[in-house]
Amino acid sequence: MITGGAGFIGSHVVRRFVTNYPDYQIINIDKLTYAGNLENLIDVEHKDNYVFEKADILDKKSVTDLFSKYTITDVIHLAAESHVDRSIEGPMEFVLTNVVGTVTLLEAAKDAWTDKNEHVFYHVSTDEVFGSLESEGFFTENTPYDPRSPYSASKASSDHFVRAYFHTFQLPVKMSNCSNNYGSHHFPEKLIPLMINNILNDKPLPIYGNGLNIRDWLWVEDHASAIDAVFHKGKIGESYNIGGLNEWTNIDLVMFLCQLMDQKLGRPEGSAAKLITYIKDRAGHDQRYAIDASKIREELGWTPSINFEDGLSKTIDWYLANKEWIDKVTSGSYQNYYDQQYNNR
Ligand code: NAD
Ligand code: DAU
Repeated sequence: MITGGAGFIGSHVVRRFVTNYPDYQIINIDKLTYAGNLENLIDVEHKDNYVFEKADILDKKSVTDLFSKYTITDVIHLAAESHVDRSIEGPMEFVLTNVVGTVTLLEAAKDAWTDKNEHVFYHVSTDEVFGSLESEGFFTENTPYDPRSPYSASKASSDHFVRAYFHTFQLPVKMSNCSNNYGSHHFPEKLIPLMINNILNDKPLPIYGNGLNIRDWLWVEDHASAIDAVFHKGKIGESYNIGGLNEWTNIDLVMFLCQLMDQKLGRPEGSAAKLITYIKDRAGHDQRYAIDASKIREELGWTPSINFEDGLSKTIDWYLANKEWIDKVTSGSYQNYYDQQYNNR
């Protein structure tokens, strides 16, 4: 069972597992919120080893029924509310999906896995649980938790429940905490796809605060390969930090993106950058995230496969070739959300 498989990272994980492991039967469970789109999976939906089930992880009966209908052996749990700005507007949805939803899945796994077979409950989490760094240092697996947004507080809480089920009930869990992902199928509310979409539509490029906040960017397919490594080779009861060793201030990243977009669109240099607009900062905006990924590199042999310039270039090419996808995923309630977020700031 892969939860949240119709979302950004989940769809890359589903694609990788369906394609690379034909002997596995992959059951993708997703509620299809605004962020979940089956268009993300059209290239694998016809495969014999893939099934989609529309379900809400908060619905205990549906989840339990699915565990028995498919005799679920392992779970990779990605379903979540994932956008920090939305968590500031409305924290409760994050508590429900990220905390109560995760505990609902843990309960279902605990009740179902009473046999002597080996199982894995793999919880996919974020580096934001560790809080915010100043200019020095990195998050390691031993960094104390210090979540500061409603989103990261909900993810931290779910991480604690996962560990509690390992210690109290011996549920065979694994975890990972990853830095910012980028790549194809990324919903255009997040920094990189939002900027690409706005450049294409000649709209302002909103930079929060002074633009000097730092994120550590990882290509989403490298996150999927790390999840594969942790799922197959990681130790039960342990967590692994995943990151790109690729720190950028937001403004430098957006300037670089503008330069690449101008080149690809054949526009004069500096055209996209003229759209940059500084707006009111995100409340409680974390200054810097940076991951020390030495544990996963040394113990599981994982490293990122691609440098940022190539990854960003591939990402832009995907958006330029898939404008219909952008139109489809932004056609629902998204426009209202965007107008509220940006026009009021
Ligand atoms: P996303 O918002 O793109 O996708 C989330 C998916 O979960 C969607 O398909 C949505 O429909 C589904 N979902 C939401 N609520 C649900 C519910 N109640 N029941 C069933 N399905 C539900 O998110 P993403 O960026 O792909 O992130 C996936 C996971 O990875 C999340 O747990 C997130 O915290 C974690 N993560 C994300 C990043 C990142 O940079 N995006 C980095 C580290 C960790
Ligand atoms: O670190 C991992 C996390 O990365 C994940 O757990 C989250 O699910 C994911 O959404 C992401 O969180 P961020 O808040 O870092 O991502 P976002 O794309 O929203 O913002 C990246 C940075 O860019 C952040 O410093 C805020 C800034 N920003 C964002 C938007 C959307 C802007 O300046 N302007 C914008 O319009």
